[in-house]
Parts: sequence; structure tokens; C-alpha cells
Amino acid sequence: MKIAVVGLGYVGLPLSLQFARSCVSVLGLDADPKKVELLNNGQSYIKHIQSAEIAELVAAGKFYASTDFGQIKEVEAVIICVPTPLNKNREPDLSYVLQTGRSIARHLQQGTLVVLESTTYPGTTEEDLRVVLEENSYLKPESSSLDSPRRRMRAGIDFHLAFSPEREDPGNQQIKVKSIPKVVGGYTKDCLDRAMALYGRAIDRVVPVSSCRAAEATKLLENIFRSVNIALVNELKVVYAAMGIDIWEVIEAAKTKPFGFMPFYPGPGLGGHCIPIDPFYLTWKAREYGKHTRFIELAGEINTQMPQHVVHRVADALNSQQKPISGSKILILGLAYKPNVDDDRESPSYVLMNLLSERGAEAEYYDPYVPVIKPTREHPQFAGKKSVGWNQAIIESFDLVLIATNHSCVNYQELGDWAQCIVDTRNAMASVKGASGKVWKA
Ligand SMILES: NC(=O)c1ccc[n+]([C@@H]2O[C@H](COP(=O)([O-])OP(=O)(O)OC[C@H]3O[C@@H](n4cnc5c(N)ncnc54)[C@H](O)[C@@H]3O)[C@@H](O)[C@H]2O)c1
Repeated sequence: MKIAVVGLGYVGLPLSLQFARSCVSVLGLDADPKKVELLNNGQSYIKHIQSAEIAELVAAGKFYASTDFGQIKEVEAVIICVPTPLNKNREPDLSYVLQTGRSIARHLQQGTLVVLESTTYPGTTEEDLRVVLEENSYLKPESSSLDSPRRRMRAGIDFHLAFSPEREDPGNQQIKVKSIPKVVGGYTKDCLDRAMALYGRAIDRVVPVSSCRAAEATKLLENIFRSVNIALVNELKVVYAAMGIDIWEVIEAAKTKPFGFMPFYPGPGLGGHCIPIDPFYLTWKAREYGKHTRFIELAGEINTQMPQHVVHRVADALNSQQKPISGSKILILGLAYKPNVDDDRESPSYVLMNLLSERGAEAEYYDPYVPVIKPTREHPQFAGKKSVGWNQAIIESFDLVLIATNHSCVNYQELGDWAQCIVDTRNAMASVKGASGKVWKA
């Protein structure tokens, strides 16, 4: 079997490798020629994905990357894993999905299965992607005569269409792609059967649902569940701190309950490509039905306020040493949005760096996973900024270290020994000895 995976990012690359390991030939398609060249040379550009693994599958002829969509003619299935961000008005930006749909449609063959995996609102596969695929794909004419009419392909008849949400957890070494159950919804029963058979080759458990919409809604439920629960503990963190209670101690105690509770942890704000963005896909779509998503928006509001809360704690900590934020040297520890990955998309560390700089602080960062900040649309002012090094003289030179991401490779004991003052948003200093007098939780 030969398939194509479009979008070789944090989601598409590990999925491609899993299919390739399962004796499926994978054509990886990406718009970025630099990534394509690296991958074909057996080099990973994502820190937690090993180059050796890619090199082995490339050498075995099981995986190769390309920018040429024309090769879609040769595959039985195409899986789409391109970005679904928000535009500058915080509304869904489906342009990557629709552009990919047009590129696929031009080369679509009869009987091919197209599966969308990008997180999106219910209705995208059937209302948006289907239309683009149908409007841009044609069946081969029955005769070679010039005036024989060209007929457009139809989903569910000429090609198959499905949605299967991605559940990738980058950096998680315990759970592998193969063992994460895959939810699948089809445009028709036949589409569902095809998609089940496809994923069944590479994934241990495939979970069918009744429609593409149900599969799209499942992914949003999962991410909204995280967003509102994180908002809840963020709110409790502030309330409990005012009462002199440590939220981290409370969560540790609560999680001993063997039923009806699962732990979520507070932090400096939401980050990454999913949790800060996906709930608003539903909010936007709900308006079409005259419905409001008050709960989701409230969670978003609480989470968005977190960097401000952290900056207040930084001000309190500096104040206790008769120092103002303005003119202080502050080190942000961790630029990636979560531990042990190099993904800095939507990272609250950027918001913190901005807020502190606006108040006149000299803000630097330390992150071994992000040695240099790449240019981004959201934070162009930080492009090219480099991580500081790690030694006693450097850490001592800062008035305050703000822990935003708890990478496990950081030596927190050294930090406790060297830093003048620490604001900890991740409870990273909990087991460090002799530093409690200088640690402020936030
Ligand atoms: N990162 C995660 O942890 C995660 C988890 C679950 C779901 N998702 C969802 O999966 C989707 C992809 O996310 P990601 O994190 O892999 O994004 P990513 O930015 O890491 O990767 C997307 C890739 O698509 C390529 N691309 C963009 N437009 C293209 C086009 N027209 N043709 C071909 N390639 C194109 C980009 O060059 C990039 O390599 C999103 O919808 C996201 O919400 C992500």
C-alpha cells in the first residue's frame, strides 16, 4: 500500500513514520522544500524525533518526502495534517486546509481516500474540504474526443472522504502513536470502512463514529476539556494563594482519589498549537447556529489573564527586595510552551517577555531547546534573540529568574543555589533544598 501524508510537522511526521514502520510506503508532502531536503537526507528537524529513525525508513524505501503533489496520482490514500490557526481577528483560518484540498484535487484518482486530521470545527470536512475537492477534481473523460464532457468527481461515489482527529502529544515518551486509539468518521459508510482499514494497518485500536462531524466534535471536546480544567486550577491557584494554601499540594492530595478526579496543573498561561486555539473554532461555528459558548470563553479569559498574574507576582518578589521591575534584569527559564520539546508556538513565555519589557525590565531567556528565536508573525521583535548560557556567573547576574517551562534537563538545584530570587509557575523548585526563602510561587 502507498499513501501520502500532507504536512510533515509535529503531527504529520510521526504519523508518516508510524505508517512507514507498518510496511506502508509513505510519500510525505510538504510546502517547505527545506524540510523535504532534510528528511530525505535522514535528518529530523524536530528535537524529540530521532534522525536515525527517519534515515532507516528512507534507506528502506518506506518513506520519502517531496513538494510535488503530482505524485498523489500514485497513492491509495491522502492524509492531511496542515495547520489550522486563527487569523488576526481570532477566527478560524482554513486557508491551509483549502489550499491543500485544491492541490490534491488536481491529481485525485478514482477510489482514492482523503482523510483530514487537522483540528477544526464540526462541518469542515463535509462543508468545506468536500466542496473544494469536488470543484477541482475531474473524472477521466470516457472518450478521447475533445467535446466529450468532463464530469466532476463526487465524494462518497468517485473518491472517499473521512475525518480522523490527531491525538499527538509531542515529547511524551510513554505513549507511542501506534497505541493511541484513533477516532474515525466517514462521509459515507463505505468511506468509514476504507478509513478504518487504512488506520487499522498502523494503529492498534480504531474507534468508529457515525460521521465526520462527530469525529471533529470529539477532538474539540478533548481540547476544550483541557482548556476549562486548566482555567479551573488557574483560578483556584489565585484564590488559594490568597488564603495561604498551596494549589500544588492540594492537587497532589486530590489526585489520590481513585475515581471521579483527574489532575490538571496551573501555569503561566496557555501555549501550543491546540489548547489556546481550538476552543475558538467551536465558538466561531456555534454563532452560525445562534449559540454562545460562555463556558469556553470564560475559560479562555481566565487563562489569558495568567501572564498578568505572573507579572504581578514578579513585581511582588522584586518589591520585597526594594527593586522595581523597571531596570531589573529578569531571566525567563523556558521558552517552549511545554517541557522537553522545542515547540514555542503560542508560548506564554513570549507574552511574559513582552509584558516585562514594556515595564522596563531587561528580559532574557534560557532554553536549551530553543537556542535562537526564529522569526514569527506574532513576535517579530524577538527574532534572532539567543538563549543565555548556564553557569553561576550568568544566573547570579539576574535580579530574578522566572520559571515558565519546567524542562527536565535543567539543574534546579543549581538554580536554587545560584539565583537571587525565583518566581516559579510550575512548582519546579518543590524538591530543591535550601532555596525556599527565595522562591515565590505564581
Ligand atoms: N502539535 C500538536 O501537538 C497537535 C496535536 C493534535 C492536533 N494538532 C493539529 O494538527 C494540525 C497540524 O499541526 P502541527 O502541529 O503538525 O503543525 P506544523 O506547523 O508542525 O506542521 C504543519 C506542516 O504543514 C506544512 N504545510 C503548510 N501548508 C501546506 C500546504 N499547503 N501543503 C503542504 N504542506 C503544508 C508546513 O510546512 C508544516 O511542515 C493542526 O490542525 C493542529 O491543530 C496538533
